[in-house]
Amino acid sequence: MKIGICSDHAGFDYKNRLISYLLGKGFEVLNFGTNSSDSCDYPDFAHLLANAVETGEADCGIALCGTGNGMAMTLNQHRGIRAGLAWNTSLASLAKEHNNANVLVLPARFISYRMAVSCVRAWLDASFEGGRHQRRIDKIPLS
Ligand code: RB5
Repeated sequence: MKIGICSDHAGFDYKNRLISYLLGKGFEVLNFGTNSSDSCDYPDFAHLLANAVETGEADCGIALCGTGNGMAMTLNQHRGIRAGLAWNTSLASLAKEHNNANVLVLPARFISYRMAVSCVRAWLDASFEGGRHQRRIDKIPLS
């Protein structure tokens, strides 16, 4: 599985550590930046990740910024993206089970790195439940 990942400066450290973790678990990882801890603008990287997931270059994605809100707001502007924000493992699992989130967003300044890894694992291990949740997802896009 190819996992795209991006962050701004606030998520840079966790992104690097998650890349190592995921590579160690045998995933292919596509890094869409940022590539330093210098202050930067999260949409510049969120759009790159979103485009990769929408085109199929990446199977899914992980995005990190300080609160997670900027990444989630930007990613969810894309028609093919369902970005779910999670700060514990229940939220991470439910983002997949109920919302079929194809991007997991993590608030790097508000969770430990250990929790970030746990959220990623919970989200990757979870399965979309379909049924009434698919009906609700179908109602999300504006015409
Ligand atoms: C950066 O200071 C911070 O604003 C950003 O990481 C994020 O929290 C925005 O939503």
